[in-house]
Amino acid sequence: MTTRAVASAAATVANLGPGFDVVGACLEGPRDSVTAELSDDGEVTLVAVTGDGGRLATGGPNVVTIVARHVLDRFAEPGVGVRLWLDKGLPLGSGMGSSSASAVAAALAVAALVSPEIPKEALLDACREGERLAAGTPHADNVAPCLFGGVVACLPGEGDAIHVLPLPVPEELVLVCVKPEYDVKTSDAREALPEKVALVDAVANVAATTAFVMGLVKGDMGLLSFGCEERLAIPARQGFVRGYAGVVAAAKRAGAVGAGLSGSGPTIYALSDDRQTAAEIAEAMVDAFAEVGATATAVISGIDPDGAQVSLIDV
Ligand code: HSE
Repeated sequence: MTTRAVASAAATVANLGPGFDVVGACLEGPRDSVTAELSDDGEVTLVAVTGDGGRLATGGPNVVTIVARHVLDRFAEPGVGVRLWLDKGLPLGSGMGSSSASAVAAALAVAALVSPEIPKEALLDACREGERLAAGTPHADNVAPCLFGGVVACLPGEGDAIHVLPLPVPEELVLVCVKPEYDVKTSDAREALPEKVALVDAVANVAATTAFVMGLVKGDMGLLSFGCEERLAIPARQGFVRGYAGVVAAAKRAGAVGAGLSGSGPTIYALSDDRQTAAEIAEAMVDAFAEVGATATAVISGIDPDGAQVSLIDV
């Protein structure tokens, strides 16, 4: 009999509200799953990938193998290897944290086999290495909410460290995520970012952040709405998403509290405080994408407070 670990990690919305590179939310789904089995050859082997439509290769550097290597190097005895199976439930290049979900599921599955004592906090840096490979930067605003759940702020610590601050989440908060059929590579979207921003935009973003955080604390949808006016990244990136302004306007007309780019796009998220309204917002956003010639699909989800999960099975 062999013990395997099966870990599941969900989609996330990074850059939530005005929180570029800082604030992210964990959705209930869709989810990626990684199954892991230890080996004694010291190698990290990605045996198979399913659910990706054949787009991901099993050979060469890959988010799950990089992350697994980091976890083994840090926590396992020398000579321990691992075999991995990745099942993609998230679309690639969607702006919903596809690479992060794979990274987090891989870290959690490998860690569960190496030692049940390894806390999630100790896996964050390994997961960020997956982001470095996928996007060119180890930003944490997808992997942290994916790992821990809820809505979190990723605060810079000493050196390269990140301190994860959980934020309160109003119980009724619902996210609508609408993805057009095309992809945007995070690395391309990062290249579009300005090196400097105007003081007026920086001040507006501080005001929006203050309102957004207080909106979360008080469950005040008016403050959250004000807080969704992001001025650092979206102005530089919205050109990647044809019809961006029209989709956001349609979401707001249908009752959205606020809307913005999910991560680096092309998914656009909207916030709602009611499931029925969320369904109407999703329909309006899909229709607005259709008006500019894009077929789009919607996910409606609450915030998952628990984050990624893992269990052990004997096969
Ligand atoms: N904060 C990251 C970025 C998230 O905007 O580049 C990428 O999903």
